[in-house]
Amino acid sequence: MLLLRNARVMTCDPARPGLGILEHGAVGIAANGTIAYVGDDRTAPAADQTLDLDGRLLTPGLVDCHTHAIFAGDRAREFALRAAGATYLEIAAAGGGISATLEPTRAATEAELGALLGARLDAALATGTTTIEVKSGYDLTLAGELRLLRVVAATASARRPHVVPTFLAHLVPRDRAADRDAFVAEIATQLIPAVASARLASSVDIYCDEGAFTLAEARLILGAARASGLGVRGHVGQFVDLGAAELLGELTALSADHLEQVSAAGIAALAAAGTVAVMLPGACVQLRLPVPPIARLRAAGVRLAVASDLNPGSSFSSSLPLQMWLATTHFAMTVEEAWLGVTRHAAAALGRAATAGILAPGRPADLVAWQCREPGDVPYRYGANLVERVVRGGLDMTAL
Ligand code: NIG
Ligand code: FE
Repeated sequence: MLLLRNARVMTCDPARPGLGILEHGAVGIAANGTIAYVGDDRTAPAADQTLDLDGRLLTPGLVDCHTHAIFAGDRAREFALRAAGATYLEIAAAGGGISATLEPTRAATEAELGALLGARLDAALATGTTTIEVKSGYDLTLAGELRLLRVVAATASARRPHVVPTFLAHLVPRDRAADRDAFVAEIATQLIPAVASARLASSVDIYCDEGAFTLAEARLILGAARASGLGVRGHVGQFVDLGAAELLGELTALSADHLEQVSAAGIAALAAAGTVAVMLPGACVQLRLPVPPIARLRAAGVRLAVASDLNPGSSFSSSLPLQMWLATTHFAMTVEEAWLGVTRHAAAALGRAATAGILAPGRPADLVAWQCREPGDVPYRYGANLVERVVRGGLDMTAL
C-alpha cells in the first residue's frame, strides 16, 4: 500500500459535514488501484511506501460532467466578432455557431479526431480532472455520430481521465432542415437504439433552446433514450426557457445544464426529481448572458454541479479550477458549493455517484494533491495551476 500522509484530506463524503475535511488525514492506496484507507494520519495502517504532503490539500479527482471535447477546427474568428459586439445567436443565424464546426469535424479522419481529443483529455488531467464526460454532436449524421462515439471509446486509456460518453442531439443540420421531422425520427428510432446496443454512450443529451430542438422534439428524443435504457440530460434555458426543465424533471433526468432561463415550475420539477443543475459559468460569461438563478436553485434544494462546457464556440477551456473561480465570483456560489460542484455533485450528474467524486475506502483511487492548504485557494488564485500530483486509478500520473 502507498500512504499519502500528513494531508488536509477533503473527502466530500456526505456522511461528514461540509466538505468532509480531515485536518490530519491520510489516504491509503491499495496495489489494485482502489482506496484502502481514509482517516486520521496517526491511526493509519502500515504502508510499503509513504508520501508526506506537509499539511497540503488532498481531494477527490475532479469530475467534469459537461464537455464537447471531440471536434475539429476552431471558431477563433467568432470569438473576435463577439468581442467586437456581435451575439452568439446573430453569429449562428449568419451561418456560424455549431454548424460551422460540423464541416471540419466530418472531414477529419479518426486518427486526427483521436489526436485532438487525446490532447484535450491530457490537458484536463493536468488541471486535476480524473473523470470527464464527452459528448458527440458535431457530425449530426447517423454514421458520423456513431463514428465520433467510437473514437471517444478508442481514445480513452488508463493514463487519461475516466471517460463518460454521451450522445448529444445538438441541432438539426442545415441539410436536414427540409425534412426535419424525418431527422428527429431517425435519431429516435435508429441512432439511439444503435448507440445503446453498442454501448457507445451511457446517456443522451439534447440542446432544447432557440435555434436548436423544440420541446416536442426533445420529448420524442429523450423518450427514446429512456426506452433504450439510457440516462437523459439536457442543454436547457441557455437563451430561452422552452419549458424543458419541467420535461427533464418528469423524465428523472441526471442533469439539467445551463439554466440561465428557468421558471419556478422548472426549478420545482428538478428539485422533485433530484436532477442535478449543471452550471457552466465560462460559457455564460463569454456569451454575456444573465447569471442563472443560483439562490432560487439553492433554496429549492437542487444540487449544483460546475463544468467546463469545453467546446469551440462558447468555452474553449478544460480547466475546472478556472470554472470554480467564475462560479465563486460571477455566480456567487460558495467555495463549498464550487468544490462539491466539481466532485460529488458532478459525479451524481454522470450517474457515477458510487465511483467518483468522494474519497472513501473501496472506491477507485482518483485523487489530486494541491500546492495549497485552503479549499478557497484553488479559485482564489485563479489562472495558476496549483495541481501538484494527480493519481488516477491508483497510478501517479505525475510520475509517468
Ligand atoms: O453548451 N449550447 C449548445 N452547445 C454548446 C455550444 C456549442 C458550440 O457553440 O459549438 C454550449 O454552450
Ligand atoms: Fe454544452
